[in-house]
Amino acid sequence: MSAPSSSEQPIDPTAWTVGVLGGTGNQGKGLALRWAAAGIKVIIGSRAAERAENSAQEYCSATGVDHVRGTDNATCAAEADIVLAAIPWESHAETLTALAEPLKGKILIDCVNPIGFDKKGPYPLPVEEGSVAQQAEQLLPETRVTAAFHNVSAVLLADLEQPQVDCDVLVLGDDREATDVVRALADVIPGVRGVYGGRLRNAYQVECLTANLIAINRRYKVHAGIKITDLDG
Ligand SMILES: NC(=O)c1ccc[n+]([C@@H]2O[C@H](COP(=O)([O-])OP(=O)(O)OC[C@H]3O[C@@H](n4cnc5c(N)ncnc54)[C@H](OP(=O)(O)O)[C@@H]3O)[C@@H](O)[C@H]2O)c1
Repeated sequence: MSAPSSSEQPIDPTAWTVGVLGGTGNQGKGLALRWAAAGIKVIIGSRAAERAENSAQEYCSATGVDHVRGTDNATCAAEADIVLAAIPWESHAETLTALAEPLKGKILIDCVNPIGFDKKGPYPLPVEEGSVAQQAEQLLPETRVTAAFHNVSAVLLADLEQPQVDCDVLVLGDDREATDVVRALADVIPGVRGVYGGRLRNAYQVECLTANLIAINRRYKVHAGIKITDLDG
């Protein structure tokens, strides 16, 4: 089943299969668990298929579903309708370059934050292309690149005992239909609201805001997120 190609089609996220590159890691796990619990079919991707299969089994047990499976990143990209990149910034360019062919025509969700750490704490790293998402756009000219889920805590997502995650998710992109699809994937997570956050050229500050959130988390011992005011729905 492909992600909708016409804005007239109703959005039903449970009709899609979402692939999660790096789905064995923290952020991929959190989002995979929430999507699986919402009835969305999920394919976990990894550099090692066996690691992904083990994670998929773990996520099925945690959510009580049977629609999470694991495989290598290339098969994940080829078989999913929509693909999340949940990999470290350091491996972003190399990983996406290798997956250009299977990602053609698909919606890519990039949640990668270019954050460094030193003795003063987290700080934004420069990105030559303007933002991580714009790097993806340059590497994958035939992919519908969006940026989202940068500012939501992996810890809260993975804690299924938390009934509500309670934050907004900014969704950025130049393809309105694609950002609507990704907003729907945010909305299926209890307590989360997907909010259009602008064109891809505005992604850098959203990516780097995570450095501020990590500083807040360290100081106040919380898992901070963001909320946009004055929006009704
Ligand atoms: N953690 C959070 O709360 C959070 C929140 C928002 C956004 N993010 C962003 O999400 C991304 C993933 O964060 P994370 O905390 O989940 O990271 P992570 O657990 O360290 O890594 C995620 C996965 O990436 C894969 N990976 C590691 N090194 C790699 C390499 N050199 N090449 C290709 N794949 C590699 C690994 O999977 P395999 O070994 O199985 O291949 C790993 O399980 C980051 O860019 C981060 O900025 C994280």
